[in-house]
Amino acid sequence: MSRTADRLKTTPLHPEFGVEVHDVDLRDVTADRMYPAIRALFERHSLLLFAEQHLDDREHLAFGRLFGPIEDRSNTRMDGKPRISYGVSNETEDGGVCDEDDLRLLGLKANMLWHTDSTFLPTPALANVLQARVVPLKGGATEFVSTRAGFRALEPAMQQRLRGMTFRHRYSHSRARIDPDLAKLDLFTMWPDTEWRAVWRNPATGAEAVYVASHAFAASDMDEDEGQTFIDDLIERMTGPSHVYAHHWRPGNVLVWDERATLHRGTSWPYDQARTLVSCCISAGEGDGLSTMRP
Ligand code: OGA
Ligand code: MN
Repeated sequence: MSRTADRLKTTPLHPEFGVEVHDVDLRDVTADRMYPAIRALFERHSLLLFAEQHLDDREHLAFGRLFGPIEDRSNTRMDGKPRISYGVSNETEDGGVCDEDDLRLLGLKANMLWHTDSTFLPTPALANVLQARVVPLKGGATEFVSTRAGFRALEPAMQQRLRGMTFRHRYSHSRARIDPDLAKLDLFTMWPDTEWRAVWRNPATGAEAVYVASHAFAASDMDEDEGQTFIDDLIERMTGPSHVYAHHWRPGNVLVWDERATLHRGTSWPYDQARTLVSCCISAGEGDGLSTMRP
């Protein structure tokens, strides 16, 4: 157990990254109260777990907003609300669960490819605040690795090469790997390709992390096939079993992760059981190092 200057009690989740933060009710956190200490833990550890929170949508968004602007994907929804309770569920309106070949479930399966969120958006994400509402009896863990630890483990020549590289990202690319029809949905084709540097240096700590995702389809100075092989190899190197923290959800668990320094993926569960997580992403700003990520 360790305590920061602000007396937040933490225990490690994995030797390479991540801490559970104890004795905090996220409803009590404000910009002045506890947020600075939580933000410092976020910058340093990349993944934070808060158990027994049970936030409603309003409380969830209020906590997320402390990190920056809530990512607006309202143009992909009919009701124009900010993105919360969006997508991370197989429950249907009538209280059942969707079929295994339903496009929504295929979308969840696309989340089972190693990724970091929103690299395909004109403004990528800084953080995701994900909370479990309904969890299946077995399976459905979310797995994480640190791409900061991943970067550190690479040979110096490879590190130097990556510092000079960019990757191109496309939302429909990761969806096409699961199902060609899924990839055709407007939701996935509406964003123009993005291009980001392959290494994100955290301006608060100076730590460098590989910035890559299942959405990445091309690398600078390589043809597309060669780039894709390079990207796949890089992800594989960083996601070996010893580097993975698997989070087995309990209802009310809240995870906050640094999209700049981690990869995550969902894992399967018996699809006749309900699983509902609710999420909001926070957009990265210039102060989070975004300006250094443009090619
Ligand atoms: C996400 C995500 C994986 C999961 O919410 O961004 O990738 O385990 N979720 O559902
Ligand atoms: Mn995700």
